[in-house]
Amino acid sequence: MSRTPFPRVLVVGSGIAGLTTALAAADRGLDVVLLSKDRLDETNTDRAQGGIAAMTAGLPDGQPRDAEELHVRDTLGAGAGTCDDDAVRVLVRDSAAAITALVEHGVAFDRADGPGSPWVEGLEGAHSVPRILHAGGDATGREIQRALVAAALAAETTGRLRILRHTMLVDLVTSPGRGAVGALVLDGDRPRRLAADAVVLATGGAGQLYPHTTNPAVATGDGIAAALRAGAAVTDLEFVQFHPTALAAPGCFLVSEAVRGEGAVLRDGTGRRYLTDVHPLAELAPRDVVARENVRRSLAQGGRPVLLDCTGMTGPGGTASSGRSTAEHLARRFPTIDAALRAHGMDWAREPVPVTPAAHYLMGGIATDDRGRTSVPGLYAVGECAATGVHGANRLASNSLLEGAVFGARTAEALAADLRADDGARPHRGPAVDGGALPLPEGTEGDVPFDRQAFQAAMWAGAGVLRDGPGLEALAARLAGLRPPAALSRRALEDRNLLAVGRAVVTAALHRAESRGAHFREDFPAPDPARARRIFWRREPTAPTTEHQDTASTYAYGDILERIPAC
Ligand code: SIN
Repeated sequence: MSRTPFPRVLVVGSGIAGLTTALAAADRGLDVVLLSKDRLDETNTDRAQGGIAAMTAGLPDGQPRDAEELHVRDTLGAGAGTCDDDAVRVLVRDSAAAITALVEHGVAFDRADGPGSPWVEGLEGAHSVPRILHAGGDATGREIQRALVAAALAAETTGRLRILRHTMLVDLVTSPGRGAVGALVLDGDRPRRLAADAVVLATGGAGQLYPHTTNPAVATGDGIAAALRAGAAVTDLEFVQFHPTALAAPGCFLVSEAVRGEGAVLRDGTGRRYLTDVHPLAELAPRDVVARENVRRSLAQGGRPVLLDCTGMTGPGGTASSGRSTAEHLARRFPTIDAALRAHGMDWAREPVPVTPAAHYLMGGIATDDRGRTSVPGLYAVGECAATGVHGANRLASNSLLEGAVFGARTAEALAADLRADDGARPHRGPAVDGGALPLPEGTEGDVPFDRQAFQAAMWAGAGVLRDGPGLEALAARLAGLRPPAALSRRALEDRNLLAVGRAVVTAALHRAESRGAHFREDFPAPDPARARRIFWRREPTAPTTEHQDTASTYAYGDILERIPAC
C-alpha cells in the first residue's frame, strides 16, 4: 500500500463499533482502511437479538432529562460499583444522536403501527422504564449490521473507504517514539505490514475462551491480545458476562432474555420451577443470578441441562390452552429464535427446551478514555474489546450495541482531532489508569502443546460462572504450562490470542478476592466495599517495533515468526 497525504487509519473489525468508526472517520476526510477477519457480517453485532437501549422520546410525561438520569442510574446499578460514572453519562447523553446516525444509515427500527408511527420502546431486565429499540423483533443486530455493511460497501464503491476482507490482525507495530504505527496482518495466508498513522481495534470479545458461548467463532480476543503485546493497559477482564439461556446444543444459540421477559420459566429435570426460591424477580433476576442458579441446578442433576418452558406463552388475544396460538405467537414475536429451534428439531411451543449458561459478553478489555484513546499513543479501541468503564462488573442489557455506536462516533472525532494536531510529538492523552497498572505475568512458554478444546474446558471449570481461589490457582498453573502454536495461520494465531487473554482473565479473577457483578467467587461470596474499583493491568511489550525493520516497505518476517510463540 502506498502512503497518501491524508492521515491513514486502520480500523480492525466490522461490527457496529468498527463500522461506525470507519464510516465516521471517512466522513471526516481520513484515509480509512477497514480490516475484517472473516466476512464483514461475521460479528457479534450480527447475532445481537436484544435491542439497543436509548430513550428517544422522553418519558410519557415528556421529561427527557429524567429519562437520561434513569438510564444512568440503571447502568450504574447493573455495573455494581465499578463503572466510570463520566463514561456512563457520555453513553446516555449521546444515545439519541447515535440512534439518529443509525437511522441515517438506513436502520429500520420496529414501529408501533407501521411507517411514521412511533418506535416501539421495549422493557428488558434491570431497566426501570421501556427504552429498548428492536428491529425485526429479535433481529436488531442483523438489521444494524446489514445497514452499516451496506453503507461501508457504498463508501468502498466511491473510494471513500478501503476494505480488506479475510485479513487477520497478527500484531500491532509500534515505534519507540510514536506508539502504534501500523499492523502486521495475515491477508488470506500472506503476511503483510500495513503502515498507519493510527490503529483502531474494534475486534469484539473473546467468547471462544469457553466451550459454551453465544459468540461467533471469530471472537478470539485478537485485539485485546495484540494490545497486551503492545504494552497497552487493560482492565475489568475478570468480568465475563454469562448469558443464562443459550440452547444446550451445538452452536449455543442464544434464547433471548426477552423470552423470559414475556413469560417463559425455567424448570429442573423434574419439571419444578426453581428461581422463585432464589430471587423475588425469579426468571427476571439479574443475569448473573440466573446463570449461577442454572449451573447449580444442572450440576445437581448430574450435568443435565435445565429447561426453558415457553409452552404457556401466548400473544395478545391468544388462549393459554391453544398450542397453536402459542406457536404462532412465538414465531411472530421471536422469528430468529423460532427458526433456529426448529432447525434443531425442537418445537418450543409444545416442549420445554434445554438451555445452558454461555459466555456472552466481556465487560473488560483495553482501557480507553471516553474517546477511544488507549494508553499507547496512536492506538484506539472501541466496542467490546475496549473497556470504557460503561459496563462495570455487569453490563445492562442492550447497552452494548449502544456503546459501539456512541464511542465509534466519538473515536472518529478524536482521530480527526488528534491526527490533524499531530506534529510528530504525539502528546500522551489516554485513559486515567488510577493508581498505576499492575504487572501481568509474562507470556511464558510451557511444555504442553495448546489444545483449544482442552483449554476451553479448563476455562469453563476454573474461570466460568462459579469460581474459587484453589480452582483459579490450579488453572493459572495449567495455563502457564501451555505452549502456544508457532505457525503463521489463522487458527494458530487465534490460539495464541486465546491463551494470552485467558491468562489475563485468570490473573484478574484471582486478584479480585470478592464477588461483584458477573465475577462470583464461592470462597468470597459477598462484595468487599474496599474493592469497589477498577484494577488495571499491563504486560511488558513484545510486539514488533519499527526498530525491527529496514524501511517501510521491507519487514523482517523472520522476526515476526520468532516472536509469535510469546503469547
Ligand atoms: C438477550 O437478548 O438476551 C441479550 C441482550 C443483550 O445481551 O444485551
